Amino acid sequence: VKVGILISGRGSNMQSLVAAAKVPDAAYTVALVASDKPDAAGLAWAKEQGIATFALSPRGIGKPAYEAAIDQALRDEGVQVIALAGYMRLLSGDFVSRWRGRILNIHPSLLPLYKGLDTHERAIAAGDAKAGCSVHVVTEELDDGEVLGQVEVPILPGDDAAALAARVLVEEHRLYPQILTEFVRR
Ligand code: GRF
Repeated sequence: VKVGILISGRGSNMQSLVAAAKVPDAAYTVALVASDKPDAAGLAWAKEQGIATFALSPRGIGKPAYEAAIDQALRDEGVQVIALAGYMRLLSGDFVSRWRGRILNIHPSLLPLYKGLDTHERAIAAGDAKAGCSVHVVTEELDDGEVLGQVEVPILPGDDAAALAARVLVEEHRLYPQILTEFVRR
């Protein structure tokens, strides 16, 4: 199964998905890494690995033209499943309906808690005992859609958002390849 990964930044989750695609009998290959940020660090890394990349900023061209170009780039590479990995834009209903049920995302909270940004700050401020990450199917709604897998981590006394984010990120890197593998095999 050919997977396309959309990123906006560092791309550490993308790297974990790429690593899992290199093991013997991997369930998927990474056919394209695309970014809305041409200077995303993850994009440079993917290029160095010899992975096909596509970068386009929606600035100036508008969301419909931007999404049409991303859609075409994905189709040109034969992508069947899209994995969002730190992709910081909401996909339009139009785009989602063209890829209905074939887009996954990873979100750093125990969904349905804390959709959107600043998940770790909010979990700490709420006095929660645990946090975590979720992989879910993408719909038109932000961080909505069926949750396919979740991992919990404790929130420890003295945690700030950075400390908690680091603890959650370790689990993100394990969870996402595992769930994507199960998803493409089902
Ligand atoms: C991750 O915590 C992801 O869950 C969230 O943004 C962060 C992206 O990190 N949506 P990276 O770009 O994968 O390193």
